[in-house]
Amino acid sequence: SAAEKGGYDYFMLKEIAEQPKAVADTLLGRIDASGSLALDEVRIPDHVLREIDKVVIVACGTAFHAGMIAKYAIEHWTRVPCEVELASEFRYRDPILDQRTLVVAISQSGETMDTLMALRHAREQGSKVLAICNTNGSTIPRESDAVLYTHAGPEVAVASTKAFLTQVVACYLVALYLGQVRGTKWGDEILSVIRELSDISKQVEQVLETMEPVRELARSLKDKNTVLFLGRHVGYPVALEGALKLKELAYMHAEGFAAGELKHGPIALIEDDLPVVVVVPSPRGRSVLHDKIVSNIQEIRARGARTIVIAEEGDEAVVPYADHLVRVPQTPVLLQPLVATVPLQVFACELATARGNEVDQPRNLAKSVTVE
Ligand code: G6P
Repeated sequence: SAAEKGGYDYFMLKEIAEQPKAVADTLLGRIDASGSLALDEVRIPDHVLREIDKVVIVACGTAFHAGMIAKYAIEHWTRVPCEVELASEFRYRDPILDQRTLVVAISQSGETMDTLMALRHAREQGSKVLAICNTNGSTIPRESDAVLYTHAGPEVAVASTKAFLTQVVACYLVALYLGQVRGTKWGDEILSVIRELSDISKQVEQVLETMEPVRELARSLKDKNTVLFLGRHVGYPVALEGALKLKELAYMHAEGFAAGELKHGPIALIEDDLPVVVVVPSPRGRSVLHDKIVSNIQEIRARGARTIVIAEEGDEAVVPYADHLVRVPQTPVLLQPLVATVPLQVFACELATARGNEVDQPRNLAKSVTVE
């Protein structure tokens, strides 16, 4: 009913709008007065976490994209090698696991069969499993050694939005917590990122307030057949997520690529007026990556692409090459997905609406896939 949708036409719109709160709720009570993380619910003892020599993340769909972002964060802040794998691939290839492997299973519903089978397999090998989950008491957290709940609240729309953002937050918490427990040379950075995380929900709010041009752009593209997405570093999973949302909702051909791969194939797809969304890393962080992506934008534009550029406020280098420019607030490099994903969700939702699709219940898809 309309009341359940809180006055929005679709659950998805409501859930997109709830993201600042979902993000804030997921952080609530997890940062102590001294600015450190207090994740008492992670019942895996500190001495076990100190002995871990590998992290393996398993998930499906949108949760897998959160896992890809987690890899960048975990390896940077903990220096522990981290793999991320689709749960459906992981289990059938005889993965190398032992007691010193921490397996992180990410699932909104807690019922995805492939993810469940992957974690069962990991536990049989003696690995510890930490679930990141949005559904209290569901099967995946029940069968794990510990769980970090995302507090997104119930997500009804099939295409995941607020659950994704909170999964990403939970992944940062796990990464920062591992860094904190193990003690790394990034101690000061960890404390400052925890501080910046506390502010991030305001920045998500800020993005939501500036989405009208994105909706307008989406409507203008409703008769296109293809949209490409490029990103680099943590912007790469964001590009994949943007493409997935568009497939799921608008039933359009959409593909995400690592921008560095452009010359190895994707550039052959560029033709006149093809919309290409580019997620640009901060020029303040690893500025080499920023400069490389700016030349990618130039290259595709020279070949006729219509460039839709998602870039941080104050990034002036992209301006001459952006046919459409979407600004996101400045964040630490690793946190950018929390603001950069939001315009892509709005874009896909509006395109789906413009194409007359059922936004909350896209054809052929289910909210939770409980068969293999
Ligand atoms: C389905 C849903 C997706 C979701 C995926 C994994 O495909 O349509 O939105 O990302 O399952 O679901 P989970 O509940 O494990 O996060």
